Amino acid sequence: MRLLVTGCGGFIGSHLLERLLAREDVSVIGWDSASDRITHLLDRGNFRFRQQLVKEGESLAAFEADAAESDWIVNLAAICNPSRYNTEPVATIRANFIDCYPVVEIAARHRTPLLHFSTSEVYGRTLASYLATGADAPPDLYRLSAATTPLIMGPVANQRWTYAAAKQLLERLIYACHAEAGLPFAIIRPFNFFGPRMDYLPGIEGEGKPRVLAMFIAAMLRGEPMKLVDGGTARRTITSIHDAVDATLRILDRPDISLGHIYNIGNPANEVSMRELAEELRESFVRVTGETRFRDHPIMHVSGTAFYGPGYEDCDRRLLDISEEARRLDWRPSRDLRQLLDETVAYYHGLYGAGAPGAGARDG
Ligand code: NAD
Ligand code: UGA
Repeated sequence: MRLLVTGCGGFIGSHLLERLLAREDVSVIGWDSASDRITHLLDRGNFRFRQQLVKEGESLAAFEADAAESDWIVNLAAICNPSRYNTEPVATIRANFIDCYPVVEIAARHRTPLLHFSTSEVYGRTLASYLATGADAPPDLYRLSAATTPLIMGPVANQRWTYAAAKQLLERLIYACHAEAGLPFAIIRPFNFFGPRMDYLPGIEGEGKPRVLAMFIAAMLRGEPMKLVDGGTARRTITSIHDAVDATLRILDRPDISLGHIYNIGNPANEVSMRELAEELRESFVRVTGETRFRDHPIMHVSGTAFYGPGYEDCDRRLLDISEEARRLDWRPSRDLRQLLDETVAYYHGLYGAGAPGAGARDG
């Protein structure tokens, strides 16, 4: 199987490449400007790395040549950090729609199967969040099904939705190219994949506001409070990166059954509020380090506007239905929240905890 992977140097890309490149029946051409997470893979005989971005308006002849000799294009390229959606809305739309446009066109022209990574954020807010019944609403008003659930976003001035809107339009473009030009496609909607190498730890590996896992782990390691946005009531369904890669491989290995569908990929058993996530993470640090002091690690409250700036609005809940995915792909996620948090905490504590080689970086 010959794969062309855009965004191969990111979090998901690094884990997917590890699994793919371990196989003798697979070769990969990867495109990305970033290589930090995949340096250990660069010398693999079945991997060719093109250290550049795929950009609308630039010569894409080399990308098209790579596509012509591939069995799949896997599109991971994105800006996917919520702190950028309202502060860099044009760049967000450009990265998630405009720069992906030629990838879809080239796939359609060559009829090369396209596996596109979309997002659970295309669902936006749940119907239940707009009703007075709220948490007591019937499950049909909050459980997210790829085939039937409507996609609901807030007003344009709430620029949080630039990412979700761009991702939704790209899904619609892919579907349109399928309907009009026979593009073979599969789309994954990931539900908060967690694991080692996700984003960067602020104050240790970079500066800024990455996604919640990296924010909370950096705070724990630096002895600073974890910041809970808007009371920490938003709910997410947390998925092990390994379960996610298992599902991805099921799709790539079985185009005969996987093509032509959109897949919710996530673990419905791991739904938590962000407050519960912070509390679980404290317990994970206790288990991994044996130090009970982490149980009392401080948590502070911040408003969404103070934390992200104007234009932030949150997805209330992401509880997914995977019955169709499990049936079609013969796949079920198996890692529970405790297991996936312990793996990730052990990874970062091993790098930056007291006595670890990178411990000095903690104080940034
Ligand atoms: P990531 O930010 O770690 O990786 C994205 C990679 O894409 C980066 O390495 C970046 O340099 C690269 N990239 C950006 N623009 C590019 C371009 N024009 N050409 C080539 N490469 C480009 O993100 P991730 O967590 O690995 O996510 C991968 C994909 O999955 C994204 O499309 C994201 O929207 C989607 N997704 C991820 C999650 C998750 O839980 N991690 C959830 C929902 C959706
Ligand atoms: C993310 C990103 O949009 C994408 O990477 C991805 O497409 C999407 O999830 C998905 O899985 O489909 P979100 O879950 O909102 O969206 O991003 P996080 O930054 O991880 O935030 C999760 C929750 O934690 C939000 O409610 C946020 O307000 C909260 N949060 C974040 C905190 O309480 N504290 C923080 O320090 C950071």
